[in-house]
Amino acid sequence: MIELRGVGHVYSPRTPWARRALEGIDIDVGVGQGLLIVGANGSGKSTLAWILAGLTVPTEGTASLSGQPLDRAGPKVAVSFQHARLQLFRSTVGSDVAWGRGVEEADVDPALMAVGLDPGEVRNRRIDELSGGQQRRVALAGLLARRPELLVLDEPFAGLDHEGRETLVGVLGRVRANGLAVVVVSHDYEDAEEFADRVVALEGGRIAMDVGVREGMARLTERDAPPAPPAARRKARQ
Ligand SMILES: Nc1ncnc2c1ncn2[C@@H]1O[C@H](COP(=O)(O)OP(=O)(O)OP(=O)(O)O)[C@@H](O)[C@H]1O
Ligand SMILES: [Mg+2]
Repeated sequence: MIELRGVGHVYSPRTPWARRALEGIDIDVGVGQGLLIVGANGSGKSTLAWILAGLTVPTEGTASLSGQPLDRAGPKVAVSFQHARLQLFRSTVGSDVAWGRGVEEADVDPALMAVGLDPGEVRNRRIDELSGGQQRRVALAGLLARRPELLVLDEPFAGLDHEGRETLVGVLGRVRANGLAVVVVSHDYEDAEEFADRVVALEGGRIAMDVGVREGMARLTERDAPPAPPAARRKARQ
């Protein structure tokens, strides 16, 4: 479905401020696939998310959805940014979810339920009365109501508590089961096997790892494990 071939990106090319963010990226995302993209700060994750969402046209290579350039994919791709409030335009929850081309009033309640919100309770509430985590869910409901084929989420877990995170992980699992492809960009790979089947790690704008989710989580956990104390110190403490 989604094909990135030899994708590279340089910000402000041909200027003294030119800065390379990505190089030589080949990625495929199939129908209903779940892809987690991890990497350190500045490794190129958001740049890649913007390219997948069709918002940034890469300066090198090709990015396409079913053979069509991604930047012309329109409503087939939905993207959620870290700061959900920036994505909510209307004053009430119901009017915000219903906002958008091709979305009907009847789509609102199912979309709210899909993100674990009770329509009767939240439909008429003001966006400003909701917590950040609830606003994030409303933004996601609005995206789902537009029935995209690919959902791109940049740091969707930031600022969520344990319950908010569990709900979102459950939502992602369910939308994938309905055939939607999901790309999650995050530092954090906890529970990744519940919403992803593949993990791509970026390092300095290049792909350092592209493996199945189980192997990816095992390798990331090993990488991040604290070093074992030296044997001598262990002995001294006994
Ligand atoms: N608009 C921009 N203009 C110039 N350089 C940029 C711009 N946006 C990002 N960069 C640079 O591109 C590189 C990749 O940035 P990007 O935001 O994609 O990283 P990231 O992995 O999302 O980082 P973080 O974890 O901090 O969100 C960085 O070196 C960054 O400084
Ligand atoms: Mg980022």
